[in-house]
Amino acid sequence: METSQITEHKPMFEAMLARKLDRFYPEAELYVKAKVAAEINWLKIERNAVILGHNYMEAALFQTIPDIVGDSLELSRRAAKTEKDIIVFCGVRFMAETAKILNPSKTVLIPARKAGCSLAESITAADVRALKAMYPGVPVVTYINTYADVKAETDICCTSGNAVEVVKSLNSERIIFLPDQYLAANIARETGRKIIFPSKTPVSAEKQAENPNMDWQFLGWRGACEVHERFTVQDIKNVRADWPDVVVLAHPECPPDVVEASDYSGSTTQMIKYVEQTKAPRYLLLTECSMGDNVAAANPEKEMLRLCSIRCPHMAEITLEDTLAALQKTQFVITVPEEIRARAFNAVDRMIKIGGLGKRD
Ligand code: 13P
Ligand code: SF4
Repeated sequence: METSQITEHKPMFEAMLARKLDRFYPEAELYVKAKVAAEINWLKIERNAVILGHNYMEAALFQTIPDIVGDSLELSRRAAKTEKDIIVFCGVRFMAETAKILNPSKTVLIPARKAGCSLAESITAADVRALKAMYPGVPVVTYINTYADVKAETDICCTSGNAVEVVKSLNSERIIFLPDQYLAANIARETGRKIIFPSKTPVSAEKQAENPNMDWQFLGWRGACEVHERFTVQDIKNVRADWPDVVVLAHPECPPDVVEASDYSGSTTQMIKYVEQTKAPRYLLLTECSMGDNVAAANPEKEMLRLCSIRCPHMAEITLEDTLAALQKTQFVITVPEEIRARAFNAVDRMIKIGGLGKRD
């Protein structure tokens, strides 16, 4: 039986021990969490709900209640298809909003009102409109880590799992790529494009002709993930000094020099698959540190090194207790005004229609 189908607390506690979660929590705490998780699974059936869990959820939640786990791309696809009445999104607000955009007739709940994202906060719909006015006709790609009103202003969304495919699908010499400066720089490098960041005033064709530095194919924005921007090349050097055989994996929200110094870069699910499908004795995961617990639990024969002071404060808002309260009280309901939702749908749906599973799947 899947752990997410267990509705009694004793079997749940045993399943948690079998997954060695006592490595991350004291047994007594695990026992209490098992009771909450079992109650959620019972209520989930009663309320005809599906629980989606992002790869960054803490191990006690990730291993027990989600029906579907994954990265932003996979969870968007699955949210679009579910026939359950309620979607409980154990992730951050922009993810729950994307579920509502794709499947508006469902009740979408997020267990914690405050679960934001520094990237989503870094740009507004007015910022996107201003860029479009400065560079008319240039297609706009926005990272899925944005709010619905920003998505509504853009041509197509992307995730860290499919950004290269999305950029290539546009077949355009120039692209505005928002709002993560590091993801943009990493994708620009991977697709051989020169990136610049916007000046306050429009650049005329004459001025551009005078200045060869104005030759660009990618226009970025100065947003950053407050977690991934903190990893440095020195972190990699320090770990490699002690474990020369370590394989380093970096999320593409990390700065480009960090990605370049790593052995592999991909979305959260792509990193998980990479660990599963390769045979190194140890890995360094440069991403949100709860994911390291989940990857370590799934790969007990491999050692997962991670810099565990770096936990996403927004993802950490989502707990088992709040998820239970969300189902009991039908809180917190995600709403998106229909006029914005319909336009944002076009950008997300266009991304999903590109299909594929991401180049590394
Ligand atoms: P993924 O799409 O790779 O799961 O990333 C989402 C995210 O917020 C990373 O910080
Ligand atoms: Fe946003 Fe970074 Fe947290 Fe992901 S890890 S939700 S990008 S703040």
